[in-house]
This record gives sequence, structure tokens and C-alpha cells, in this order.
Amino acid sequence: MQFDVITLFPAFFETALQVGLIGKAVEAGLLRFRVHDLRQFGIGPHRQVDDVAYGGGAGMVLRPEPLVAAIEQARTEARSRVVVLSPQGRLWTQALARQYARECDQIVLVCGRYEGIDERVTTYWADDEVSIGDYVLMGGEVAAWVVIESVARLVPGVVGNPESLALESFETGLLDYPQYTRPAVFRGYAVPAVLRSGHHESIERWRRLQALRKTLRNRPDLILAARWAPPPVWWAWMAEWVGWVERALEKMYPSPRSQEAEDAPDHRPD
Ligand code: ADE
Repeated sequence: MQFDVITLFPAFFETALQVGLIGKAVEAGLLRFRVHDLRQFGIGPHRQVDDVAYGGGAGMVLRPEPLVAAIEQARTEARSRVVVLSPQGRLWTQALARQYARECDQIVLVCGRYEGIDERVTTYWADDEVSIGDYVLMGGEVAAWVVIESVARLVPGVVGNPESLALESFETGLLDYPQYTRPAVFRGYAVPAVLRSGHHESIERWRRLQALRKTLRNRPDLILAARWAPPPVWWAWMAEWVGWVERALEKMYPSPRSQEAEDAPDHRPD
């Protein structure tokens, strides 16, 4: 798997790429990384990468020219995906990580900074816009690393024991059960006796119960999501409804994209 990161802070990734399982996988040639310094693609003698926002408002916006030049240089594989990290993206999940690991040979991660990036880059040059959670970071670097780690560990050979991947949180639909190690008693607190009983069936049952308990307490939404998934026809109705609303809004407030489309077909590279 090839990862390309476009960032104003390449140093952020330097150490991270050398340590732990990712460092080992890089050495083994299972993962390849290229970090592209966005500043190198900046405009003019000051290598400018940002500018004020059209329409006013506080903060600077990353200009499209340096970003697109970097994306065009980074994208080299046919089965690639260009991903913009932003709080406006769709939520990154284990299911998406699995899909990316299965379908991609290359992931190009575009890290925003300041107030965001020019929307034309997201619309015409990116395949996906991803958020790692409902909070605002100062830039996309941490989010890019989250995407990298969660996909990288699904690449065959990166994690030593593939069995450990199948049983953990989110893969089973429940959070993971609690784990204990030595000493058997620590400051008066003992490891649950069942785990020391050697009785595998009881241990299994105890773990399933604990996983359910933890999920109910910390993430009840996961249980609801698994048990109450709407039937597919609901999604079809919803998609139809969204399409109808979009067309109505487009009539009321034509977007620049649809006006341009008449004389400029598509700016996306092949
Ligand atoms: N950049 C800033 N906040 C972010 C978030 N929550 N997810 C992805 N990229 C971001």
C-alpha cells in the first residue's frame, strides 16, 4: 500500500513513520510513504499557499494551485483515492478503513490548515472528504495519521497475528472485552477469578457479557445501529428525497459548478 501525504508540516510524520509496526512494515516493503511539502508548491518568491476567503470572514483558505499541483504529482497508481481531511467530511469508521484496504493500492491524504481548503479541490480533485470525529482540530495531520494507522494495520502482513484483528472492537459490532495481565492482585485489586480458572467456555461467556456491558455503558449507539438498521428501501427513499431537495435548491440557488459545466466540461485529471 502506497500512502502519500500532502501537508504544510512534513516533520509531523518523520518519527511516526519510523516506529512500531508501521516502521517495521515500511522496512519490509509492505507499506510505502511519500510526504509532500505543500510549501514547495507555493506561489511566488514567498511560496504562498493561502489567501483570504471570497465573501469575507476570518481566517485564511488554502489556495487551489499548490494543492492541485501536489495532488497531480502524488497520484501515481490506478487504484488510488485522494482524500481531503476536514471536519465537514463523512465520518471515518472501521468499515471505511476495511473498504479502503480492500479497494486501494494508493491513498493520497490532503491535510487542510487554517479555515480550510478551496472547495474546488474537494469537488473536482478529491474522491472523498473524511472527518475523524465531531470536533475541530487545527489541521488534518492528526486525522491523516488516524486514517494511515487504521488502514495500514489491515494490510496483510503488517499485524503479526491476523486473528487479533477479527475479534477486536468494531469488527464484532461490540466494543472489546476488558483485558488483564500479571500481577494477579495489584494494590488489592484482583483479576476476575474466571480468567484464572482455565475454563475456556466460562471465559468465553464472561468476555461476551463484559463486551456487551461495556458497549451498553459507553456506546449504546453501536448496539442500536446493529439491531435497528433501516431496511434498504428506506435508504432508497431517502436518496430519492435528497435528490429531490437538491434539485429544488439548485433551481433556487444555482451553484457555480452547474453554471460552469455548460462551457467547461470537467477539470478532473484522468
Ligand atoms: N481537520 C480539522 N478537524 C478535523 C476532523 N475532525 N477530522 C478530519 N480533519 C480535520
